[in-house]
Parts: sequence; C-alpha cells; structure tokens
Amino acid sequence: MGFPHPPHDRESVVLSKYFGDKEAIGLEGWRKRGGYVALQKALGMTPAEIVGVVKESGLRGRGGAGFPTGVKWSFMKPGDGKPHYLCCNADESEPGTFKDREIMRWTPHALVEGCAIGAYAIGAEVAYVYIRGEYTEALDRMNAACKEAYAAGILGTNAMGTGKTVHVYVHKGAGAYICGEETALMNSLEGRRGNPRIKPPFPAVAGLFGQPTTINNVETLVAVPHILNNGADWYKKFGRADNPKSTGTKLFSVCGNIQRPGNYEVAMGFPFKDFLYDLCGGPLPGRQFKAIIPGGISVPIQTREEAENSPMDYEGFVANGTMLGSGGVIVIDDAQNLVKQIARAARFFAHESCAQCTQCREGTAWTTKILERIVAGEGSTEDLDTLLEIGEQMTGKTICVLSDSCATPVKSGIEKFRGDFEALIKKKKVHMVPAQVA
Ligand SMILES: Cc1cc2nc3c(=O)[nH]c(=O)nc-3n(C[C@H](O)[C@H](O)[C@H](O)COP(=O)(O)O)c2cc1C
Repeated sequence: MGFPHPPHDRESVVLSKYFGDKEAIGLEGWRKRGGYVALQKALGMTPAEIVGVVKESGLRGRGGAGFPTGVKWSFMKPGDGKPHYLCCNADESEPGTFKDREIMRWTPHALVEGCAIGAYAIGAEVAYVYIRGEYTEALDRMNAACKEAYAAGILGTNAMGTGKTVHVYVHKGAGAYICGEETALMNSLEGRRGNPRIKPPFPAVAGLFGQPTTINNVETLVAVPHILNNGADWYKKFGRADNPKSTGTKLFSVCGNIQRPGNYEVAMGFPFKDFLYDLCGGPLPGRQFKAIIPGGISVPIQTREEAENSPMDYEGFVANGTMLGSGGVIVIDDAQNLVKQIARAARFFAHESCAQCTQCREGTAWTTKILERIVAGEGSTEDLDTLLEIGEQMTGKTICVLSDSCATPVKSGIEKFRGDFEALIKKKKVHMVPAQVA
C-alpha cells in the first residue's frame, strides 16, 4: 500500500529514514534504532530547557502555517495550576499531502516519543493524537505503539522511571477536512460539531476543555527527538546559508503527472528544479510540466518557471509566488485541463466548508458553480471578473482560512493561466465529469 519509497541514502533523510523498514514499527526494533533516548533525556531536563533548545533550532510548524514551534510552546506556562493539553494534529486532509500517514505507518513510536516530549515541555500530562478517520492502518499502528509504550513503562504515571506522568491517547476523527483546523479539532475531540472557534481566546489560553492547549502537526513533533539528540546547531545546518529562517529537513508528498511520485525528505532550501527533475524523475514521456502546487491545494499555483526558480523553503516559495504550506506537491502537466482541476479543488472546499461563515458557505458554492459552468463550455469572460470579486470577499473575512484557501488557487489560476480559462470560454462545451459528492 502507498507509494514506493525513494532511496534513503542522503544526509537529509532523517524523519523518513525508516520508511519501508518493517522492524522499525515495533518497540524492540524502534529502540534498536535509537528510539526513546531523547525522551529519557528530556524527562531529565526542565520544560524551559527543552523549549529553549527547540526555539534555538528554528523548527517551524509543518502543518501549514510555519509558526515557530519553540515560540508556540513558550506561550504555555507550566506550573500555573491548570491542566494543560497537547493535541497532535494527524488529520492530514489537505489534498496532495500524505506524509503524516507514512510517519505513523512506519515509525509510530517516533510520534509517541515526539508527543511525550512535547507534552512534558508545555506542562501537560496528556497528549491526544487526532487521526484522520480514513487512516485505518496508521490508527492501528499508533494504538499498538501506545499499548507497547504503556506496557514498557515509557508512558504512564512513572514515565521511564522518572516519576513524571505522560499519557498519549489516540483519537479517531470522522474524516472531515475542517477538523484539521486546530480549534475545530478541539471541538471534535470534546465531542462537539467540528466548527472552528473564534480567536481570541487562543488555544494557549483556553483550548481543549477550556484549558491551555498547544496543537502541533505530526511532522513537527517527530522532529523534536532528533533535535534533542543532536542539538539545535545540527538542525540549523539543514537550510540555505543565506536564510536562517527556514531550518531542518522537510517531507514533501509528490503526486500527479510526474515519473516518481512519493514522499521525499530534503533539507530546507533544496532547489525545487533538482527536486522535480532529478529526485522525482521529471515529467511523463512526451510531456512538460505546466503548473505546480507545492504546498497542498490551498496555496497559490506556480507556473513552471516560478517552480524551477524556487528554493524549497518558506521564504523561497513566497518569493516565487506561492507558499510551502503542508508540503503536498501536486504536479499538473500540459495534457491536463487546468481549469477542470481548479474547479475540482473548489468543489472540495464547498463540500468541506462547515458553513458557519456566510463568505465561505456562499463563496465556495458560487465559485464552484461558476468554474463548473466555464468547464462545461457555458462560461463568459465576465465570469472571470466575478470569480476574482467573490475571491476578494472570501479572503481575510472568516473565522478560519478554509474560505481563503478556496479563493487562492482560483485567483492564482486566473492571474497566471488566464489563457486557459479564456480558451474554454471561447471553445464552449468541453466535457466535464462531475465530481462525486456524498
Ligand atoms: C481548514 C484547515 C485545515 C487544516 N488541516 C490541517 C491538517 O490536516 N493537519 C495539520 O497539521 N494542520 C492543519 N491545519 C493547520 C492547523 O490549524 C494548525 O495550524 C497546525 O496543526 C499547527 O501545527 P504546527 O504548528 O505544528 O504546524 C489546518 C488549518 C485549516 C484552516
């Protein structure tokens, strides 16, 4: 199941080193590969010391927004007399992204360890791992790993014999994109409808069950044991010398019209051109890349030229018209109907909108309707202006950014590939198979 794994022989292969290695899944095999050494070390440090190392490493959240992890952890105040919580965001519903799934399938103990360290660092005794409902295999392996960790005394009320309490519980989501948004995730964990909450209050003040909470992505948390084992300076070595803001290694999931799709881990700042052509094998025979979406469907679409100029880090992608996002690289070649792909993305967002905010509920639906009209050969040139106008109303005006995420590929698509839209409008009546909606 899943894509084949690329060779694990590069220095920057850290988090994915044991992908495909069946012996790394169980506790015994994981310990032989250095597992839980970092947790033992962490439990001997103060929470502030751990937060200091993570801050110094420059680690930024891998869930999409890229917020500095150490800074986020420093918002929590251990010892304030309140119960604290860590939520691990393993919802991974961003189209094009399937890296967290592989971390949990092949190295579930890495995530248990990352959660345990993260929880201790923010003064929490409990961490919840919220796993996307469709990820049945990841769920089974995470449950098995927690069971082994409890039986071995790694988790529990005397974690690793230190007298400290660390619990890690696995929770199965029900397959809703919106539950990846951190406040919707907390509502869902509490048994409520997964609607995003208005901020403030921010989760560090009033999060899960109204208590101080930190939410981190799977990939963010599994980087932490490596940072504690090898030091912040080691982690900072991965990255462009002239860009200290993006450090470490990053997993990219690659899908679409490319020779070798799969998960690839590279140092931040790796040239995207080398990544696409050398690591991933370039376009399919007789084809050329047309458009690339490097950070999951929510980020702006790049032209081939923009992609080929991008260093693969937060700043490198922004300088070339897009964002790093979740690292889900979607490759579209010159044989594809790009507008149809964008319409499909819009339909996804319309389906997944929680419908709390008018701009999102109406905007995603109207955007889909107009795009599908264009694809069906019934569009007009005015439709393009209407789409941009609706997109403007959908940006920066809602409780969460699902609405913005729908507008982004549409806006960048029209700006960068207007000719494709106009050709469809002129040509009329292009066949479109409607996407299946439950
Ligand atoms: C609609 C929506 C969906 C999201 N889905 C995910 C997701 O599936 N996984 C994830 O880690 N973050 C997701 N996020 C981002 C989270 O809200 C949050 O920023 C992230 O989990 C924080 O972790 P990090 O700091 O380690 O990146 C989503 C955000 C939005 C607005």
